[in-house]
Amino acid sequence: MDKRKHRRAQSVASQRLAVLQTLGKLPAVIRARHLHPDAASIVRALRQRGRRVWPLHRRGANLGYAVELDRTFPTTAAAQSTWNAGEPVFLPGMLGASPTQFAAPIQTCLRMFDRLRAGDRFVDELQRRLDDDQNLRYGGSKVDRTDPREVERVFVDAEVQGQVVANDLWAKLAWIANAENDRSLRIRFSAGKDQIEAWMQATDLTAGWVDQYAQRAFPECGAILGCRRLRDLLAILIPRPHRLSERILYNNAPGGGAVFHHDAEPGQLGVCFCQLEGHTAWLSLSKRRLAKLLVRTHFVKTMTAAMAALDQNDDAALVRWLNRDATFTAHLAAHGALFVLQAGDTILLPSHGIDEVAWHSVVALGQRPSLAHSYGLFPRQPDYAMAASGNDE
Ligand SMILES: [Fe+2]
Repeated sequence: MDKRKHRRAQSVASQRLAVLQTLGKLPAVIRARHLHPDAASIVRALRQRGRRVWPLHRRGANLGYAVELDRTFPTTAAAQSTWNAGEPVFLPGMLGASPTQFAAPIQTCLRMFDRLRAGDRFVDELQRRLDDDQNLRYGGSKVDRTDPREVERVFVDAEVQGQVVANDLWAKLAWIANAENDRSLRIRFSAGKDQIEAWMQATDLTAGWVDQYAQRAFPECGAILGCRRLRDLLAILIPRPHRLSERILYNNAPGGGAVFHHDAEPGQLGVCFCQLEGHTAWLSLSKRRLAKLLVRTHFVKTMTAAMAALDQNDDAALVRWLNRDATFTAHLAAHGALFVLQAGDTILLPSHGIDEVAWHSVVALGQRPSLAHSYGLFPRQPDYAMAASGNDE
């Protein structure tokens, strides 16, 4: 068989395999193995053999351990069918040398988060970072006392030749959780009111300036936006003009992370999460497979009840089952839903609709806070490009 035919046959085979895996007809690829919290002797033995074993602790819940197993980069066909099935697409090493190339701004950012955790003002930091910006003008800062997680929100307006072209662009510094034992911070960039409806109504021109706000204040955005391999893959998965917006910088601290949720908002096509420094563990799978596991582990009797329970997601027993139960975590991992991300890794979370979406939860790993960026994927309108120079595809 010549090389081209061989490659095509391999691609077809891997596409078939991915389709069968996502349909649950074959065991999923196990990217990371799970160990129960009482597996201390196995953990010791693995570590003696030089394996990396990560404790999974989040806000007092001991979910066991994660052991990295498989970091094979998927074929484009496999990535496509996984994405189409509403399953997370794990892309180990996607960013290549970018975390090294952007090491200086990444380290600067980590030191900034440490200062902010110690009480420094966010507005002072942003003023320093945007001091000589050609377009972005300081518009005030405030703290929402009704939101216990919000630390400070800093507003800017965008000006072109003395004319304000977009206003009320903001960067919000907030604690990720309202918990004493989680010192994780995040910065979200958006515009207008905080409600989803407000940023959905923002024009793409405004969205473009919000994206510029993030990129100019935090140049390490370039590690993601400038990654040709990632942008090329996104162009295949989302074959229409799109933008990477509603940017969030994550500084997940030991013991922290996010509980199970989804990001299926109208208009949002998915999420692109990139680890720039340190590690995080992820539990992620499609809503339907998660619902199936709730039935299989006898949390509910039927798929209909499981899907409805996930839609509500406010029942204390379900929240506990999903987020604080090491046995359920083991089931998730056994179905290929556990991932360990290191610097340079990307995970894509498709949102094709409320029932066709990748659910996910995050656990911070390691001894110190890490750095990651998460961008929403949106259809892009022609007015976006005006504000988005340097943010090509
Ligand atoms: Fe999310």
